[in-house]
Amino acid sequence: MKIIGTGRANPAKIVTNAMLEEFLDTSDEWIRERTGMTERHVISNEKLEDLAAEAARKAIEDAGITPEDIDYIICSNVVNEYITPGLSCIIQGAIGAKCACVDVNAACSGFIYALDMADDRIKSGKAKTILVVAAEEPTRMVDWKDRSICVLFGDGAGAAIFRAAEGTGDRSDTGILATKIYADGSQYDHLCSDGGVSLNQKAGFIHMDGKEVFKVAIPSLVQGVEESLKIAGININEVNWYVPHQANLRIIDSVAKKLEIDMDKVVVTVDHHGNTSAASIPLALAESFAAGKFKKGDVIAISAMGAGFTWGGMVIRI
Ligand code: UT7
Repeated sequence: MKIIGTGRANPAKIVTNAMLEEFLDTSDEWIRERTGMTERHVISNEKLEDLAAEAARKAIEDAGITPEDIDYIICSNVVNEYITPGLSCIIQGAIGAKCACVDVNAACSGFIYALDMADDRIKSGKAKTILVVAAEEPTRMVDWKDRSICVLFGDGAGAAIFRAAEGTGDRSDTGILATKIYADGSQYDHLCSDGGVSLNQKAGFIHMDGKEVFKVAIPSLVQGVEESLKIAGININEVNWYVPHQANLRIIDSVAKKLEIDMDKVVVTVDHHGNTSAASIPLALAESFAAGKFKKGDVIAISAMGAGFTWGGMVIRI
């Protein structure tokens, strides 16, 4: 299974730390020191479904395929315009594909969960070409008066196309070499929304016990990489790039240290994207491909952690 194209779309509006200082008791210094963020894209006039379709179209163009070639769409998403239908169906209609569609909500780990599903579907022979999109607008779920949460998030959509390819089943293959996903629902209330149509007929705001999540995030991100590398039979020294979920530069730094991977090999976008939930990894992948950062044969380790808690890792060779 090969990754044959990627695409991305960000809302036009950029909110800088200085803009946040204008209406919140916060500072550029605090946000940069505690999170590594300087700005984030925030959805305003756009619809998330349009950004998701734009990222998908770009990935299709990058892959050199047509929408008819796609035989399955998986969309990772937490919140969008509608409770139902799922965003995957809206994307399918917008791009003119004719295939089955499904949404997955594993919060910030959603892209890894979606790729794990795509990998299984291709390996089982049920699909040959899969579009995976992660599209998120967490800024619609924050209380803009709560400085501890609203400064952290940004919006965007990232997409990737995966195609079946013959492999030897060993570590020389390209595509997804290994995936490992986890969840622990016993701690869900450390990071959750306080609303829902059944609960109170409100969309609700994100609540996070930042310190608790911080503590869990670091070992979870490390475990995702270490366990998937073990399955792939690949040593950390053979990893060319690490693409972590982008929630906080301090978390990324600490994970890189624990993995003993040089920060030069770590893709960081949290500075200009903020935390875009499941979209953070495909946005980082698409941006890196577009910048010519990745070379053919490179081994990319990925890991994410988020609400649920969910977490996981993956190793890809391109
Ligand atoms: O994507 C899913 C996974 N999410 C994560 O991995 C996020 C994990 N958590 C974090 O990244 C960090 O915990 C945060 C960035 C959310 C917070 O950083 P922290 O170093 O844990 O800060 P804190 O929450 O302990 O707050 C420290 C101080 C507090 O003031 P006092 O009580 O020490 O006087 C806060 O009230 O900073 C204050 N504070 C702020 N000050 C200025 C909190 N938010 C802000 C703010 N501006 N925006």
